[in-house]
Amino acid sequence: VELLMERENFKLQQIYNLFQYKSIYLYSAEAVKTLRENERLQARSDDIIVSGYLKSGTTWTQAIVQLILYDQMSPIRAWGMDNSDKWSPLHRVRKAVIDSRPSTRLIKSHVPRDLLPVSILETNCKIIYVYRNVKDVMVSLFYMSKGLWEYQHTSPHDNFEHFVEKFVTGQIVFGPYFQHLASFWPHRHDANILLISYESILKDPQAMIKKLAAFMGKPISSKRVAKIVQASSFEEMKKHDTTQNDDNTWKFLRHGKSGSWQSHFTPELLQKVEAWIQSNLEVEELCGFRFD
Ligand code: A3P
Repeated sequence: VELLMERENFKLQQIYNLFQYKSIYLYSAEAVKTLRENERLQARSDDIIVSGYLKSGTTWTQAIVQLILYDQMSPIRAWGMDNSDKWSPLHRVRKAVIDSRPSTRLIKSHVPRDLLPVSILETNCKIIYVYRNVKDVMVSLFYMSKGLWEYQHTSPHDNFEHFVEKFVTGQIVFGPYFQHLASFWPHRHDANILLISYESILKDPQAMIKKLAAFMGKPISSKRVAKIVQASSFEEMKKHDTTQNDDNTWKFLRHGKSGSWQSHFTPELLQKVEAWIQSNLEVEELCGFRFD
């Protein structure tokens, strides 16, 4: 990877164990290389992009979109389960694999909008962006970075408070967080973008499935909506989740609820984080944004 970077005259900045790719951080040189390769991706007009910051519900959204898209009601396989690239985001799946997929392709991404392959933006294919209360994102990512080495080594931390410190300073995989949100929010009224929240799927999955199907231009019956609700439920997806860390203390489908943050933040930490959220929501790009 290093030789390739050199040949491409690309300087790899490393901060602690984070690797810089343009304005964001990644956990490995390999991920940087894959993203760079995918910059040349040729989008198709019927591609569907499912996008979001890590731990915001991208895999769940992807599962729902997949069930709407493909006619057979195949069992939902949580990320990692079937070893197939279709669950992999742009920084993990090689360009040749995406190129070889038949249409309609579903492409998952964790990069901010301005770092998406240019052809995706030029082709105007449909983009679904999912966001989640950032305090729950922190909790979810905290557990993943305790559980998975590739995240653990980029943000070594002693405890939740220490992890949150890294998160708010932007020294985190795919960080800084608000840059991500601020790249999509101003586009919320674009015809080819749909912004949804994790909490709104939780609150009313039927309504969200209908909304997604309408956005995707796929007529859907109530019977099918009900089947998709069941197939994409936390319990059902968890049955197929074979991800786990070495000591089996972490699973990808971990908690699946909103409000985890309430049992993780001390009053002092909460005060600091609320102030950080408030100051970040004051930027022009996030005018009108509120977490659900
Ligand atoms: P928790 O760690 O809070 O449980 P992403 O796919 O963007 O990385 O998001 C992962 C988060 O979405 C995890 O949150 C995971 O449990 C949750 N999730 C995945 N599938 C879900 C489902 N069917 N219902 C509810 N939450 C789900």
